[in-house]
Amino acid sequence: MVVLGEKVRCIDLETKKEIPKRTIEIHWSEKSAEKGSYAHFMMKEIMEQKTTIAETINQNETVIKKVADEIKNAFGTYLIGCGTAGKVCLTASYLFSRVAKKHVNAVFGSEFGSHKHFLTKDSLLIAVSQSGETADTLEAMEIAKEKGCKLITIVNVESSTMARMADIVIPIKVGPEKAVASTKATTAQLTVLTQIAYALAGKLNEGKQLLIAAASQINDMLNPRYEDHIKELAEKIKGVESMYIIGKDVNYPMALEAAIKLQEVSYIHAEGFAGGELKHGPIALITEGTPVIAIVANDETKKDILSNAMEVKARGGYIIGVSPETSEIFDYWIKVPDAGAASPIVNIIPIQILAYHLSVIRQNNPDMPRNLAKSVTVK
Ligand code: G6P
Repeated sequence: MVVLGEKVRCIDLETKKEIPKRTIEIHWSEKSAEKGSYAHFMMKEIMEQKTTIAETINQNETVIKKVADEIKNAFGTYLIGCGTAGKVCLTASYLFSRVAKKHVNAVFGSEFGSHKHFLTKDSLLIAVSQSGETADTLEAMEIAKEKGCKLITIVNVESSTMARMADIVIPIKVGPEKAVASTKATTAQLTVLTQIAYALAGKLNEGKQLLIAAASQINDMLNPRYEDHIKELAEKIKGVESMYIIGKDVNYPMALEAAIKLQEVSYIHAEGFAGGELKHGPIALITEGTPVIAIVANDETKKDILSNAMEVKARGGYIIGVSPETSEIFDYWIKVPDAGAASPIVNIIPIQILAYHLSVIRQNNPDMPRNLAKSVTVK
């Protein structure tokens, strides 16, 4: 680096050529990095979803369509992420199948090495990350780069290593996410991927309308009464040892994400399952009063997941329904708007709130959970 007066020039030491500067405009305000009137960043960031989803919809359409074209033409697309971002990738694989009838692979960053044998220079890797610095996701990008694949990233930190490595960058634009447990970045990543799925189906406008409606419903949903209703549930179940979450289709990976959220900040043993898998083992874990969250979308999966919830109830389980409509099976109902294909975006939010309140009631620090880091830059 050569510093001349106030000017800074970067020189490649091998070629001695100047490296052109990349200008990134960051719209984060100082205020967005402060807690304001909230006790914790986690709740502040959950509540910011009143506006972040609407802001994320506002993407450069040309870029969204370009990414959809890249997926259409690729010889295999891999969505890669870790932790919450990994669950977002899995959700998106269901969405791409449902909306665009297109198969994409969803693989955790740490597992991607085993897939490298399938890569050709025509394969496409889409890295999903809040920080853009997660070591396992970066390693997947390195592997794909070596094979000559095109790299795309859906990322929050635009100055990150992932953003610098990628051929195409889609910023999720949610401002700094400080709490270790991801909330607003999760729903923004889902928002971008939903748009890409609709663009791939040649229906970007329809997808945007769906998301705009969901964003407005979330804005209405996130009110103090709603939070109190969930806090009441947290009080009821605060002493449990284990809880389970079931979902189907796009809401199966959301059940996995719900489990991570509960584990991360409440330290309650939580596991997510595909509802249909209960009978193959997990149902043996249900005893009198075991809380089971059933994520029930108002679509063709509803009958099956309600029937799974019924099996749990028959064994004494306490059924918490996250659903647009109530059911006699539910012992506690958390109403969510009927958001159609955007249901994963709305369904995860009340569970984020539940995890937060369980954490606070159990006297944990939801912003800095034990043993965890916001950005895992080591393998
Ligand atoms: C850590 C964080 C998680 C996050 C994961 C991936 O484990 O605690 O909240 O989901 O890393 O991070 P990334 O920045 O790549 O989204």
